[in-house]
Amino acid sequence: MKEGVLRFFEQDTEVKKEMYTRDQTRPLIYNSNFDLYNSPALNWRDTFICDLVPNAPKPEDFPVVCRDILMEYGSHAMKLGAILFELLSEALGLHPNHIKEMDCSQGNKLLGHYYPACPEPELTMGLTKHSDANFLTVLLQDHIGGLQVLHQNKWIDVPPVPEALVVNIGDLMQLITNDKFKSVEHRVLANGIGPRISVACFFNAGLKAQEKLYGPIKELLSEDNPPRYRETTFTDYVAYFSERGLDGTSALPHYKL
Ligand code: OGA
Ligand code: NI
Repeated sequence: MKEGVLRFFEQDTEVKKEMYTRDQTRPLIYNSNFDLYNSPALNWRDTFICDLVPNAPKPEDFPVVCRDILMEYGSHAMKLGAILFELLSEALGLHPNHIKEMDCSQGNKLLGHYYPACPEPELTMGLTKHSDANFLTVLLQDHIGGLQVLHQNKWIDVPPVPEALVVNIGDLMQLITNDKFKSVEHRVLANGIGPRISVACFFNAGLKAQEKLYGPIKELLSEDNPPRYRETTFTDYVAYFSERGLDGTSALPHYKL
């Protein structure tokens, strides 16, 4: 998968030009800085995004240089996601299928990131501090490093471990669990030795649930644990997140009661 993403970004500019777009309706979106026009500062990173489910492109719309591996990786990611959502439901004391049945796991967008070597990495960021506007992220990173999580107000390196995946809780998971599971703030430092490759699978609401209202799970609430968030739809949350761009602040407080 990492080699496939590298092959994509190492294609001729002339070939990649065809896929360069900010049109969200295109099956494959390749660009630099999704928040180019709304963000206070730009990142040293290019990305391609495609929906694996529910709006999987036709096979011919996947980039030819990584088509097979994308589809194969995507199907493994879906299986892993299903297991993770079961474990998270159990950890909340709920039926293993609880979160899955809320249709939080049936959407999956794959992001292939390319962080080119930067001549002055101390002057910029690979990816600004943020938490993910989804339920869960499964991340594969290569050997270069640079990923950090914010823990007790300190940036902690997430060193690459061969064959390992990083799993991040997203903002919407924090919202539906009423803060029981906290989304993690993370960032990627620019590097002078890259390119660095990473692959993120974003678990999102499924097709039928894009407009469904998500709020704190009723079974988790009590007199001592009243709801901390108002309900919102997946579409609304992502729109609010994207409109602000990566400005280093979380979108969640906007939904606090
Ligand atoms: C993301 C992300 C980290 C990485 O795609 O949201 O945080 O290592 N990626 O590229
Ligand atoms: Ni992220």
